[in-house]
Amino acid sequence: MVASRDKWGSKFGFIMAAAGSAVGLGNIWRFPYVAGQNGGGAFVFVYVLCVILIGAPLLFNEMALGRHTGKNPIGAFRDTGSNNFFTITGAILSLLISFFVLSYYGVIAGWTIGYIYSQLAGIRLDFDVFMANGPLNIGLFAIFMLITILIVRGGISGGIEKAVKILMPLLFVLVGAVIVRSLTLDGAMAGVEYYLIPDFSKINGRVVLSALGQAFFSLSVGWGIMITYGSYLPKKENIVSSGLWVAFMDTGVALLGGLMIFPAVFAFGKMPDQGPTLVFKVLPEVFNSIPSGGGIIGAIFFLLLCIAALTSSISMLEVPASYFIDEKKWSRNKASWVVGLLVFLVGIPSSISNGAVDSLTNMRITVFETELVGFFNWMDYFFGTFFIVIVALMTSIYTGWMIKVSIMIQEIGEGGPGNWQKPLIGSLTAAKIWAFFIRYICPAIILMVLLNMMGLF
Ligand code: ALA
Repeated sequence: MVASRDKWGSKFGFIMAAAGSAVGLGNIWRFPYVAGQNGGGAFVFVYVLCVILIGAPLLFNEMALGRHTGKNPIGAFRDTGSNNFFTITGAILSLLISFFVLSYYGVIAGWTIGYIYSQLAGIRLDFDVFMANGPLNIGLFAIFMLITILIVRGGISGGIEKAVKILMPLLFVLVGAVIVRSLTLDGAMAGVEYYLIPDFSKINGRVVLSALGQAFFSLSVGWGIMITYGSYLPKKENIVSSGLWVAFMDTGVALLGGLMIFPAVFAFGKMPDQGPTLVFKVLPEVFNSIPSGGGIIGAIFFLLLCIAALTSSISMLEVPASYFIDEKKWSRNKASWVVGLLVFLVGIPSSISNGAVDSLTNMRITVFETELVGFFNWMDYFFGTFFIVIVALMTSIYTGWMIKVSIMIQEIGEGGPGNWQKPLIGSLTAAKIWAFFIRYICPAIILMVLLNMMGLF
């Protein structure tokens, strides 16, 4: 007898898991530094537009494709009649993204564990020295991967759902506490202005690509994650409201993430455009400046970051693991361990490419006029931005044009909302508007941004 596939136990559990996947280092570590590199308020403005116009329709799309087929991304494409081209560029590539992003994401998550300890122990870490310590980085990465594997091995309702239902609400409380501290620093308002008042003259092709890539990274769209999580969603649940909750929470935490960081950046006279080290260099200063109890607040903050990373990393491991469970009939235990250990091995070069090993730290390549230095940054550029954008493009073309869009409309309509196919103005329905976005708006905008980035227009 074939065991029936595991399902989310409740709508709340699903929303928390999907929001937990979306809310991660992308919101608190990546969003502020990418915003800082791309003009602050102008980037934030474009980012919010990207989430509403492109991210959210694709989020519904992926959840619906997963639930319709009840499969991992490769199974979902195959069962809807995909050809090799779309299976490779839409499904297989998304599996590889989850696998390879996790291999460096886990390294950053390992840093958060190091910082929890150093804050509690009152040790002032020099971030550059810390990153360059190979054995320490590998060890912290291993601890983080072990926790991820143990949760995924526990299954959907037993492992992932149980963990996120506690971790996510805790996260929101901790974010609020750090914002209050940051906003009450002397000189914080300059940071708020930089962050929230857009200077529209700063918007260019690079800013739009960064915003689009960041929106997909943050929403977990284009990784196969929402297809996989959608595949465990019962038919009675409402995809539109769940998807909107996820997009709202994810964007909310990203915006709040900026509100934690930028006031502090300006209050301490730092540069907002210093790149990936921003959060790790600026925030410890905030905590150190607190006359008493700063270490505890710092430890809480990095615990927050670690929790956010964990609820995302479990979703990344779940994607390739679910492939082996569904297609190769591996047990969940075996799939979690084998894939998790492989991710760890593949991630070792990333963990020693921030100063520990010269050749990995200094390897250079120039892609479309952007110079990438170091193995870690190569990984983040190719798997964390470029390929995600490609998968998002291919998935929207696939569901919009290759399989009947009416199938997707019907799938989204199951479980509500009640007015999904009811006329809003004339014969226009929410379903038709969504289909128009998936078929025309999303692919056209993504393609334009890609071509612009390649310098083709
Ligand atoms: N979407 C996850 C994040 O933002 C991966 O970190």
